[in-house]
Amino acid sequence: MKKTSARTNKLLKWYDAHRRDLPWRAGTGVRPDPYHVWLSEIMLQQTVVATVIPYFKNFLNRWPTISDLAAADLDDILAAWAGLGYYARARNLHACAQSVVADYNGAFPQSLDELHALPGIGPYTAAAISAIAFNIPMMPVDGNIERVVARLEAIEAPLPGAKAMISEAAQFLISQERPGDMAQALMDLGASLCAPLRPKCRDCPISEDCTGRKLDIAASLPVKAPKKIRPLRVGTIFWIERDDGAVLLRQRPRTGLLGGMSEFPSTPWIEGEAATSLAAAMPDCPVFHDLESAAQGGAVRHIFTHFALELTPHRVSLSGGFDTEFLLALNYYRWVPPSHFHEAALPSVMKKVASRMLG
Ligand code: ADE
Repeated sequence: MKKTSARTNKLLKWYDAHRRDLPWRAGTGVRPDPYHVWLSEIMLQQTVVATVIPYFKNFLNRWPTISDLAAADLDDILAAWAGLGYYARARNLHACAQSVVADYNGAFPQSLDELHALPGIGPYTAAAISAIAFNIPMMPVDGNIERVVARLEAIEAPLPGAKAMISEAAQFLISQERPGDMAQALMDLGASLCAPLRPKCRDCPISEDCTGRKLDIAASLPVKAPKKIRPLRVGTIFWIERDDGAVLLRQRPRTGLLGGMSEFPSTPWIEGEAATSLAAAMPDCPVFHDLESAAQGGAVRHIFTHFALELTPHRVSLSGGFDTEFLLALNYYRWVPPSHFHEAALPSVMKKVASRMLG
């Protein structure tokens, strides 16, 4: 036990001197606002700190309190979230804010079980909020902490199988006095000195305690099981432009991948050979089916968690007399000028298509 607390003290001392100044952190010794901690943790799932900072600031500007967020329009939240990926997280964010306001009077509960029961809060996020916002002795184990601990204890079993073993070892690093700072010290160490490629062990405050370093295997840890190859899906996507420059967008179904987000009409995304006809992209709009379309450059590429996607953009120009009034009856279609795309909840893949077509 003595060794554990010596390591903890060294790390906390290092954190006090080197901690990153991040907008969701309070000053040294000051408790951060649980709303800020929760919002940052949801945004940081699968996304790096540098990407999250401007989004976090924008959300706080627009919705300074959890009550403001709960009262916001879901479409506005989805549009502000665009680019962070995993839109189910944005929908859960809204549902969670509404539950905290309705069920807890706007103040996050502190027990792990109650936190865990809220929409979008899994075991990691519940532990992070407990430790960072409420100073409850917990250790949320994210990718950075996993790396630090795997090296510290020279755990050579490959991820993801080794997760439980690493998480167990991480529990010995909990600080009873400053659990939130300790977790963030490990996160910051992992994001700086204990980097994935060339760890700077010479500057590390706990290098003397690091078995990985003693065995000279730190840089190779954690070991990762070989990645599964992502399947490739392809499709044809149509940029349908009116004389006045407005472009046809449609809303994706509420559930499933990119649920509720906007897209340019496209054929189904499939493995194999892409359909190229407007009929395949818009079976609900026969009036478009005989129009001419022309490819504009090669495919736009995007990587999702479970597949890679190549969409070949085609341009369709509508001449003056083309009547598209009927689209209004299909209320998931709408005409949007590119100057208003920022209000349209376009996911990253669609932003790439727009940038190709406008560039
Ligand atoms: N990643 C997840 N949570 C974090 C935090 N509080 N500080 C830095 N990086 C993080």
